[in-house]
Amino acid sequence: MRLDASDLNPEQTYRLMSGIVVPRPIAWISTLSPAGGVNLAPFSCYTFVSNTPPMVGVNIGRKAGVRKDTASNILAHGHFVVNIGDESLLDAIHASAEEHPPEISEAELLGLAVLPGETIATPRLADAPISLECRYHSVTPFGATGAEFFVGEVLRFHIRDGLLQDGKIDTTLLRPVCRIGGPNYASLGPIVTKRAIRQTAKSLMPSETP
Ligand SMILES: Cc1cc2nc3c(=O)[nH]c(=O)nc-3n(C[C@H](O)[C@H](O)[C@H](O)COP(=O)(O)O)c2cc1C
Repeated sequence: MRLDASDLNPEQTYRLMSGIVVPRPIAWISTLSPAGGVNLAPFSCYTFVSNTPPMVGVNIGRKAGVRKDTASNILAHGHFVVNIGDESLLDAIHASAEEHPPEISEAELLGLAVLPGETIATPRLADAPISLECRYHSVTPFGATGAEFFVGEVLRFHIRDGLLQDGKIDTTLLRPVCRIGGPNYASLGPIVTKRAIRQTAKSLMPSETP
């Protein structure tokens, strides 16, 4: 079967793309609302874009042309937290996608405890095994629906005790969840370990070397 991208409307293209680019990790983003409440929503168009400094990126669409609360709050305050939920938090992750007016705090509504930010004013989720305190870096618009790719620099990593072994996250202990098409999620399947392929060590660009 062949599909021409130009024959598809935004809803059809979204359905297709979100079923093709799978599985997607979920950035569970907390931001401060204009009234100071903790806004919370999941975003699975998410990845990391740099390791030095560490930077993450997330694509935030619009609701009928209007920025989502998360996007408006990031632009207004200049910071946000990417929380990583585990299997035990899946119902709350899903429920936090419900559309609410900006003054409603999804964290409060769902009874999720928060902890104050340490390097930024935005609080993080107390029960998340990992939270990344981020400072807004840039936003790039893409396409005709007003979607925007937000990039933030990670200033502090909060990692639950025991999850970090020799500088690496123990993925089995983390029990991450991912999104597939529609309201469907998956957890970690069997881990298959292959021969390690030697990679040139990560280094700074010559122009950045002190
Ligand atoms: C698991 C999951 C992943 C999602 N990923 C995205 C995404 O990557 N980008 C996006 O714009 N919306 C995504 N959404 C929809 C938003 O979470 C939803 O629009 C939410 O209401 C936004 O909340 P806000 O207005 O408080 O920012 C996702 C929803 C779910 C359930």
